[in-house]
Amino acid sequence: MAKLSTPFAFLAGLVSYALGQAQEWGQCGGTGWTGATTCVTGTVCVVVNPYYSQCQPGTTTSAPSTTTTSSTTPSSTAGLNTLAKAAGKLYFGSATDNPELSDSAYVKILSNVKEFGQITPGNSMKWDATEPTRGTFTFTNGDVVANLAKANGQLLRGHNCVWHNQLPSWVSNGQFTAADLTSVIQNHCSTVVSHYKGQILRSYSWDVVNEPFNDDGTWRSDVFYNTLNSSYVSIALKAARAADPNAKLYINDYNIENSGAKATAMLNLVKQLIADGVPIDGVGFQSHFIVGSVPTSFQTVLEQFAALGLEVAITELDIRMTLPETDALLAQQAKDYESVVQACMNVEKCVGITIWDYTDKYSWVPSTFSGQGAALPWDSNLAIKPAYNGIVAALS
Ligand code: G3I
Repeated sequence: MAKLSTPFAFLAGLVSYALGQAQEWGQCGGTGWTGATTCVTGTVCVVVNPYYSQCQPGTTTSAPSTTTTSSTTPSSTAGLNTLAKAAGKLYFGSATDNPELSDSAYVKILSNVKEFGQITPGNSMKWDATEPTRGTFTFTNGDVVANLAKANGQLLRGHNCVWHNQLPSWVSNGQFTAADLTSVIQNHCSTVVSHYKGQILRSYSWDVVNEPFNDDGTWRSDVFYNTLNSSYVSIALKAARAADPNAKLYINDYNIENSGAKATAMLNLVKQLIADGVPIDGVGFQSHFIVGSVPTSFQTVLEQFAALGLEVAITELDIRMTLPETDALLAQQAKDYESVVQACMNVEKCVGITIWDYTDKYSWVPSTFSGQGAALPWDSNLAIKPAYNGIVAALS
């Protein structure tokens, strides 16, 4: 939303409010939308997808622009997971979340093991969902996702035990002693990981620690680091190993896909954990990228971690663009998906690729990055995009 930084702008904002106009980057239409359908001066209502129209900078007075992309024909009908497995990978997978599981057309594609051999719950195994009050665990939504994986014969990546985000306030605001927080972490990781042990086809791996570093490679300041220093990482990993000795234990982060301070910090952490005999099996590269600027040293970084004897995985891949999507952007996105997936293909210890949901209909991107979206290989009508064929090209 545009900032109202002057008295004039403030008055203009009041006028647009009185006229019922949506602000810049605000919603102005879409299925079920009952708010303003016109935009403030200097912006125009753009149909992003059937469910969401947005006021974007522009001055046209013609009808809202729509995406005029042609439909995509799959270059292979084998399916992404089938191709990945044929190429020696364990899976090609997708994140999902409970609200969209009431969409039967969506679930049908998610459950097609030719496309997806693995699923990750996007939210329902996080701390705020599983232990909202101390010592009281709720697995209802997580179980829905785990049971879907089981019914479909798909692997599950557990996500996650310890993260600075989506914490209940009793954790984030807790005034813990080091001993108390150690016990809190142990109880949480142990209970959640052991709950899913054996309940499902195979709890393949767990993101035990998520996003421990800032982008400059320093430790993220949160209740865990501030109370326990970096020792919280080994506390969580040891609790997870004891809870499910068969699950692969991961540390997962973003912006470690290119060489730099953050990737180096992660490498050094993992080396130290190995030297200390702490259980660690893999590093997850979230891979939330932008069209036209995917990392150039991804394969090199993957190889550096693999050289430590670890497995690596692409855990949350999406490649967003500034909307509206155009044929040129979709073509570039296809190349970008191909090069990212190719990096995993070129590294034997890269076990699999997970996209962060498969359709633009349910992507986290538009609500987080104003004016951006269309980040996934299926569009908001559940039709494949050129990105799908980019993935096929790398997997084939
Ligand atoms: O559950 C509440 C609901 O009660 C409330 O009515 C609604 C109103 O906004 O919010 C709901 O919570 C939302 C939650 O997703 C569940 O839908 C939060 O607002 C929203 O912020 C949250 O977003 C999730 C985000 O993590 C939080 O950081 C995304 O869905 C999820 O895809 C995203 O996933 C993360 C990975 O875990 C870690 N890596 C980055 C990735 C993308 O941000």
